[in-house]
Amino acid sequence: MAPSGPEDPMDKRAPADHPIDDLVAARWSPYVFRDETLEAGVVASLLEAARWAPSSYNEQPWRFLVGRKGDAAWQGIHDCLVEPNQAWAQAAPVLMVSVASMRYARGDKPNAHAWHDVGLATGNLLAEATARGLLAHQMGGFFPDRLRERFGLPEHFEPCAAIAIGHRGDPATAAPELAAREQGPRTRRAVAEFAFGDSWGQPASLDA
Ligand SMILES: Cc1cc2nc3c(=O)[nH]c(=O)nc-3n(C[C@H](O)[C@H](O)[C@H](O)COP(=O)(O)O)c2cc1C
Repeated sequence: MAPSGPEDPMDKRAPADHPIDDLVAARWSPYVFRDETLEAGVVASLLEAARWAPSSYNEQPWRFLVGRKGDAAWQGIHDCLVEPNQAWAQAAPVLMVSVASMRYARGDKPNAHAWHDVGLATGNLLAEATARGLLAHQMGGFFPDRLRERFGLPEHFEPCAAIAIGHRGDPATAAPELAAREQGPRTRRAVAEFAFGDSWGQPASLDA
């Protein structure tokens, strides 16, 4: 029988220490996408999922640039990625960039939670993608000024992350260094290292 679990480099499911829902465990960031378009309506559903994220004062500070392979927006986003990201993101049928509105619409005050809330919207988008058997890989490796100019971002909007979305590809068809990165182990800090109780650095009780 084929090996499964974390020993199998093709099985990217999170090797969790505590039970978690499959929707969370099954998400991971691939380096190899299949060069195949997404079904009609999928992009709308991904953005609809993002739409229903919570946000400070219901400001909904998220915006997304959306490109499909073959269109000018996809090319524009791809042109703004750093080269190492371009190398693998070129196979993705959909490229997006999340953008944060940094000021509240009402009162025109700075929104200190804007990036936080864009992250929540992106998390919803990723969950919807996972539920549909799709994969997404986010990127901080892009040139924000180039992107700002190419897409005409207004002053108080900040690009947060580029996102490549598509189907899982076959690592055997990819460049060896990409296949190797793709098959590396998934690691995380233990919960006790980031969940504190009584005082900072004192692990929270996880008993109850
Ligand atoms: C905001 C953000 C920026 C990232 N930037 C890059 C990037 O520029 N290039 C890259 O290959 N991966 C990038 N990643 C992917 C992370 O390296 C990846 O999420 C992390 O190693 C955990 O792996 P997993 O998503 O498979 O669980 C980024 C992820 C996030 C959330």
